[in-house]
Amino acid sequence: MTSQRYDRPAKVLKDPAKLSFDYVPERLVHREKQMERLWMIFRPVLESGVSQTALLIGNVGTGKTATSKRFCLDLVKRGSETGKPMDFVVVNCRQRSTESSVLLRLVTHFDERFPDRGFSTAEMLRTLHKHVEKRKMHLVVVLDEADVLLRKGAGDIIYHLSRFDEEKIGAKSSMSLILISQKYLLDMLDPASLSTFRRANVITFDRYGGEELRDIVADRVELAFYPDTVPPESVDLIADASAEWGDARFAIEILEKAGMLAEEEGLPQVAPENVRAAKALTYSVVTWSKVEQLDIQKKFVLLAVARSLKDHAYVTTRDVEKNYQVAAEEYGERARGHTQFWAYLQSIANEGLAETKVSGDPSGGRTTYISVPDIPVKALREMLENMLGEKE
Ligand SMILES: Nc1ncnc2c1ncn2[C@@H]1O[C@H](COP(=O)(O)OP(=O)(O)OP(=O)(O)O)[C@@H](O)[C@H]1O
Ligand SMILES: [Mg+2]
Repeated sequence: MTSQRYDRPAKVLKDPAKLSFDYVPERLVHREKQMERLWMIFRPVLESGVSQTALLIGNVGTGKTATSKRFCLDLVKRGSETGKPMDFVVVNCRQRSTESSVLLRLVTHFDERFPDRGFSTAEMLRTLHKHVEKRKMHLVVVLDEADVLLRKGAGDIIYHLSRFDEEKIGAKSSMSLILISQKYLLDMLDPASLSTFRRANVITFDRYGGEELRDIVADRVELAFYPDTVPPESVDLIADASAEWGDARFAIEILEKAGMLAEEEGLPQVAPENVRAAKALTYSVVTWSKVEQLDIQKKFVLLAVARSLKDHAYVTTRDVEKNYQVAAEEYGERARGHTQFWAYLQSIANEGLAETKVSGDPSGGRTTYISVPDIPVKALREMLENMLGEKE
């Protein structure tokens, strides 16, 4: 046996597919309340065929997409058990950020061969109508990352879909809408769409706490790993690493990478050292997505932090503020005043992208020092310069 390393059977990973990003868990640990709310909102759809709308809001990795998919799968199942034909489509609006690309996704759900050009949005809406009516079903459309649509000025599609059944009088309605966003987006909707999204139907997804993340990881361990191959201390370490951001995606990514590393080394268990290595590999990706979400002024502040730090462990806020003004000017924006600068800095610190500490300075006063955890400042600087460059 020469190439034993690659021939040998997996020792720890039983079912790696259960760790993949598109796997939808049977049960979403600690999201019972959100599920219950969804059932309450959608019960009338099943019982009397009226349409409903819901808006799911929460930070990155808080289970919005997974919960909405689990809910839709369960809803369709319940519908078929009770003789109410239901169907759903999840549209990722980051990938499809125009009105016609969203509609195309919906139409091709029913007709794969529908041509991808040559039809107006009104025609596609009519086609969609026909498909839904022909099947006498209720369709739930999930617009995931819907804020992208609004930011790109394609918010009309939300209006059209929320008015889908408008022309029908008396008949049962045929479409419900679930919007998902990281940010509160009701104030981005035009008044007409807003009236459809009643405030009561907002469901919030808070960041997970350490204990919750531990349960989520332990649950996934059971699905994807052989018994007793992930010791509790490794689970704890993963939960601690992701608790800073309350992000379940981060936790599951570390779990997956740690499992692969243990497998590569032929270990009988996922060791804490595998978790540490996995964490280091995962950090840069997650930081990128966090940084991307900052608004432009906060990006300037973070860029100023990275530039001021260079090879220092800490810098003072005074240095950072100067560099902030330079950075804003460089990208043709007006730097905000001192108070606003502080608020930006605080919010960056809250996101875990910088750390602040107050201590005595040589002149006997108190100074706030800033540092960046977990990612090389050079990488952070380049990341920001690339992002800001693209916006021009
Ligand atoms: N409560 C949970 N139980 C089990 N797995 C979970 C739970 N919450 C999230 N996950 C898992 O964590 C990952 C991230 O969840 P999801 O994609 O739903 O987050 P999200 O809120 O949509 O994030 P984003 O805003 O970045 O799109 C997925 O792999 C999902 O299966
Ligand atoms: Mg999502």
